[in-house]
Amino acid sequence: CRLVEMPLTASAAPAPELSQDELKRIAAYRAVDLVESGMVIGLGTGSTAVHALDRLGDLIRRGILRDIVGIPTSKKTEVHARAVGIPLSDLDSHPVVDLSIDGADEVDRHLNLVKGRGGSLLREKMIEGASKRFVVIVDETKMVNLLGGSGLAVPVEVIPFCWGFTMGKLRRLFDGVPGFDLRLRTTSGDEMTPSVTDNLNYVIDLFFEKGITGNLDEISDAILKIVGVVEHGMFLGMTTSVIVARKDGSVTVIN
Ligand code: 5RP
Repeated sequence: CRLVEMPLTASAAPAPELSQDELKRIAAYRAVDLVESGMVIGLGTGSTAVHALDRLGDLIRRGILRDIVGIPTSKKTEVHARAVGIPLSDLDSHPVVDLSIDGADEVDRHLNLVKGRGGSLLREKMIEGASKRFVVIVDETKMVNLLGGSGLAVPVEVIPFCWGFTMGKLRRLFDGVPGFDLRLRTTSGDEMTPSVTDNLNYVIDLFFEKGITGNLDEISDAILKIVGVVEHGMFLGMTTSVIVARKDGSVTVIN
């Protein structure tokens, strides 16, 4: 990995700490600098990606970027992108995407990701996998030593039919892994109602107390072999670069 340090200010005085949302905005704007007129852009989902949508819409409205086509990775992103004036299409019409910009829940030092805590992992993986360049935008809290290591979920999208059976298979796959746990994702404030993705599937969240140890490609293959699993939220070997906004307002680009 190659690190490029890019301080935003020339001042010698320490900059005041910025809010997490401000850091997300800084990373997002830096990524949108990579967009050129005529490009097909994969539009990510989440609170970081929203800043990229806003910036892109603004540059399109001001005529600075022309002939942009956006491919949204979720219904939520589609609605927001439309509202800020980004022309939209899909992978059927534009099977090759020039550049995708999206946030992530975790990034390891090999630029592998966990995504999908917002539930959009399947469309994200399809669109970002079809991209010539995939640029990830994060604040520094998302950087981890091991995927799953922040104690938050590694999501798996499953079909609703007999989801308990699929969950049993996932449980057995990680049998004996210390601190492993899993549960069906439910809508917030209602533990009985499953959360439903844009593809009308459910999500089973996997928890690894100490992060995922072992060969990630093999673990990925084993999860995907379970009939009933649609996709998982580990994005392995897909990232072109990560733009990390740091507390002091500086930006690091990792290629
Ligand atoms: C949604 C995602 C998001 O990119 C990820 O959850 C990061 O979200 P945020 O930018 O809000 O922290 O994968 O499915």
